[in-house]
Amino acid sequence: MVRLIGLKKIKTAVFISGNGSNLKNLIEFSFLKKSPISVDFVVSNNSKAKGLNFSKKFGIKKKIYNYKIKNPENEILKNLKENKIELICLAGFMKILSKNFIRNFNGKILNVHPSLLPKYKGLNTHNKSIENKDKYSGCTIHYVNEKLDSGRIIIQKKVKILKGDTPKTLAKKILKEEHILYRKALIKLFV
Ligand code: GRF
Repeated sequence: MVRLIGLKKIKTAVFISGNGSNLKNLIEFSFLKKSPISVDFVVSNNSKAKGLNFSKKFGIKKKIYNYKIKNPENEILKNLKENKIELICLAGFMKILSKNFIRNFNGKILNVHPSLLPKYKGLNTHNKSIENKDKYSGCTIHYVNEKLDSGRIIIQKKVKILKGDTPKTLAKKILKEEHILYRKALIKLFV
């Protein structure tokens, strides 16, 4: 895996589908001297993703790919190579990457997931943890492999579920921790 050498930051693409609070967090982090990454490219499958505004605000190249006509992964791969992207950070990206795509970026794709994996892979993690009366939930940064939310865990943060918590309040608390955790994971891996 690439490591931070001198001042050269790891060229990173962030993949989003929605609000992009994790994208904003990663961009702001990337401006800090201690950050091992620079965010150079934003990928989205959703032209209406709110998070795309951050690419505009911070002047970062973005591209929207239409999954409806045919799978655009080959085009994405081509564009990532053209932009010399070395690392992919998934941040609320709602498409599943194919085996072939992952093989092309082997060990260089990270994801943030809003649960304490291996518990609650997939969607609706907050509903599930509250329904099951768990005492804790949390978030995980992990490598992406060919199975959904199953790659090697890099770092996790526990969040206490309080009596009055709803999926919404829990999501809000966990999202805050996701932002802190993504930064920590990148420092742990590359600094
Ligand atoms: C986050 O909770 C992330 O863990 C999940 O989707 C959400 C994306 O939030 N996969 P945002 O778009 O980064 O604000």
